[in-house]
Amino acid sequence: MVSGAQFELAPDKSGCARLRAYIIGDYGSGDAWQAKVAEAMTLLARDEPPDLVLGTGDCIYLAGDDLLTGAPSAEMLSERFDTYYQDLAASFFQCLGNHDLIDVFGGDPAPMIAHTYQSRIWRMPSSSYSIRVLPPWVAVHVLNSNVFGFDGTFAEGEHFSVREMERELDAATEYFSGFQGLKILVGHHPVFTAGKRTYRYRGDGEIRCMRRLREMIDGTGVHFYLSGHEHHQSHTTGPACEHIVQGCGGAGAKQNPRHSRRMNGTRLSDKIFRFQQVMSGFAVLDMDQHLYVRVRFIGIPAHVPADQFRVIYEYDWSGLDEIGDRSLRPCRQTNDNLRRRHSG
Ligand SMILES: [Fe+2]
Repeated sequence: MVSGAQFELAPDKSGCARLRAYIIGDYGSGDAWQAKVAEAMTLLARDEPPDLVLGTGDCIYLAGDDLLTGAPSAEMLSERFDTYYQDLAASFFQCLGNHDLIDVFGGDPAPMIAHTYQSRIWRMPSSSYSIRVLPPWVAVHVLNSNVFGFDGTFAEGEHFSVREMERELDAATEYFSGFQGLKILVGHHPVFTAGKRTYRYRGDGEIRCMRRLREMIDGTGVHFYLSGHEHHQSHTTGPACEHIVQGCGGAGAKQNPRHSRRMNGTRLSDKIFRFQQVMSGFAVLDMDQHLYVRVRFIGIPAHVPADQFRVIYEYDWSGLDEIGDRSLRPCRQTNDNLRRRHSG
């Protein structure tokens, strides 16, 4: 599959001074949880419509514990994905997760790529790609994180490939090289986590198999890395990048008995753990040409209808010089409580 493909089949936003993206991941459960988050997105969009949606992977899961019968096809995505989000009428720029790519489609992304040209909302022109319909002050690249590994640890076992990983790293590095605006990277597997996987990696909050990605992020000056995989909503400030995990788009309700959740475990010398909560929902990312950025996490408590969604976390940056460790300057800390609202 071609890395770094360009994609222009989407509404042209290149002249926009402001941009709003919804971020959602782990959202293909095909049940009431997915439907409720989708409904909340549609309701919010009446007042705050998104220009685009950035998907952080696992867009479709196996239904229940049953293996699929028959050949999986792009038509399945019409039923299991488009149905939920067509009222939103926004382009969903998708990335490959492990459940959709491996469990549902047996490691072949072709049906998901093909659906791009059949769906009104689904957009995945390649395993990795950059979005070319954006304003000149922001760059977004989507990569395939399933092929990553480091020091004997792997994102997805047999899908680890040194060659493919290097291609992903090279494509993203080339795309961001020399760009002076806001750099946003999207993948499925997080670099930092406060979720259950921190337990596997000795509780230090770094997912070791993604070390090469972490190095690329720091080296190329990526400002935001958006991921999923962990079924929580979290924000962690790395040395030079803000890490947003959105994995509660419908798959966050069930505990995995093999890997119980651990709610903390970060090492402050490497990162600043700012927020984590397990609650169905998604995020809203507002950006403008002056490189002001605001992120809001939208949560829907269990046992309430979708219209009772609420902001459970909010943070903003008034420029790129506030990203990463630079947010720790004493003057920035003084204003922290004024700029951040956290309820729930
Ligand atoms: Fe996943």
